[in-house]
Amino acid sequence: MLDLWYKNAVLYCIDVETYMDANGDGVGDFEGLTQRLDYIAGLGITCIWLMPFYPTPNKDNGYDVMDYYNVDPRLGTLGDFVEFTRQAYERGIRIIVDLVINHTSDQHPWFQAACKDENSKYRNYYVWSKEKPEDIEEGIVFPGFQKSTWTYNEEAGAYYAHRFYDHQADLNLTNPQVRQEIQKVIGFWLALGVSGFRLDAAQFLIEIRENKTQFNVDSLYIYLKEIRDFLSWRRGDAILLAEVNVSVDELLPYFGNGDKMQMLFNFIVNQHLFLALAQEKAAPLVEALKSLPNIPEIGQWANFIRNHDELTLDKLSDAQQDEIAAALAPDREQMWIFDRGIRRRFAPMVDGDPRRLRLAYSLMLTLPGTPVINYGEELGMGDDLSLEERNPARTPMQWSSEANAGFSTAPPEQLVLPVVKEGKYSYKHLNVLEQRRDPKSLLNWMERAIRMRKECPEFGWGKYQIISTDNPCIFAHRCEWHSGVVIAVHNLAREACTVTLELEEGDGERLIDLLGDQPYEAIDGTSHNIQLEGYGYRWFRVGCQHL
Ligand code: NOJ
Repeated sequence: MLDLWYKNAVLYCIDVETYMDANGDGVGDFEGLTQRLDYIAGLGITCIWLMPFYPTPNKDNGYDVMDYYNVDPRLGTLGDFVEFTRQAYERGIRIIVDLVINHTSDQHPWFQAACKDENSKYRNYYVWSKEKPEDIEEGIVFPGFQKSTWTYNEEAGAYYAHRFYDHQADLNLTNPQVRQEIQKVIGFWLALGVSGFRLDAAQFLIEIRENKTQFNVDSLYIYLKEIRDFLSWRRGDAILLAEVNVSVDELLPYFGNGDKMQMLFNFIVNQHLFLALAQEKAAPLVEALKSLPNIPEIGQWANFIRNHDELTLDKLSDAQQDEIAAALAPDREQMWIFDRGIRRRFAPMVDGDPRRLRLAYSLMLTLPGTPVINYGEELGMGDDLSLEERNPARTPMQWSSEANAGFSTAPPEQLVLPVVKEGKYSYKHLNVLEQRRDPKSLLNWMERAIRMRKECPEFGWGKYQIISTDNPCIFAHRCEWHSGVVIAVHNLAREACTVTLELEEGDGERLIDLLGDQPYEAIDGTSHNIQLEGYGYRWFRVGCQHL
């Protein structure tokens, strides 16, 4: 049997800077995070994805790296990192870390050397043009915040390419010397014990800019195979989880035939799930799932509700985006960014409605793939729309009702980002301590739901089928793996209903209730009439065995 740990994993994304501050300087750190490992283990997390924690000028939340081989001194030392990974592994938790190799910070010594001396070997580490390129405004990723994709550097006397902000100079990954550097970086963190990497901006790694924004896709795929080979030679069970937001027909080459990325974030399902939630209809989700390519056996989707960025809706039409806006984020001015996305956390989008929160997270946990939770989602944390750019959804973790949400003992004005203080999502009543005590809290629900998800490996490993019902608001699916079959039924609409499931022949007489939004009457005999409250959901195991 293939032993693929990520197929039944539960991932938890953490920004060390905003998680827990142990030394009271207002910035989260590795020591604080290490203290919180029992909380994370208690939640049932099996793998932590650490957002960039490397030395950085921090103009893009750490995605502007100036040293690949170290820890940002504000967050601790390499020693603290090793201590953290050791403590995590003690609790059965793996670590994957962000690998940001599309670009470096303009403060990286490579870029500095490249600008200073045209003959330096570092010059060719980046992408240059002596002439002002014609496509200077093409391919901007952050419209409204980024002016161009090429910027003139006085010292170098040339334009350098940058797909993202102008302080993030694109590395020239067609240069074998740069490729070697990146291998060393991968080797370094593997040697420190990580189980893999979240590959930032994978679709942009190789672009032939002289040729306008025409991607040389083949060289990109060859490169992805190269880093995968290197990774697997160094550590057989290490994975690459790539950030790739492309159209459905471009996805498969990122998995290849199992020789490239093991995991991709499921942006297609994510965007259509939001449409389904807005419309209270299953169709968008069903169509999204059906549109996905068949992926190799070792491939896996990473399903999420929200991440640290904007909720990008770029694969939906304007009319579909409008539907989502009307239902979940009506204030375009405040809540939208980059003409394509929503900069809110999920809970405020559904007005903190516990039924809708659980519905969405129940879907995330059962959809074919591996769930990825962004820190604070387990509490239904809110956002602070007064903060700039994508920061509203990046406020510090809310641990308790103590000052600064128990995140830090520093004076509030010293915090890396302010905690959410006002209204429904204020740390004064929405925090870990409070929710631990409340058996009905989202935190306790999440812990139970994660536990059940782990007991149903079929969701992560299995082949799935969509089960048709007579109700367009119902999303029902069946996952089969080895001899086990599980079924999940979700009611996207606010009205209660009863649906009849048309099950596979041979799916046994009984459906055993595993989890639901409320206690329902046990399913009677051979009838597969399923009762569901508004926004209700139920998970079942098929057959006579509970496990
Ligand atoms: C994707 C990251 O998620 C985002 O936060 C960042 O700004 C860009 N990549 C650039 O690294």
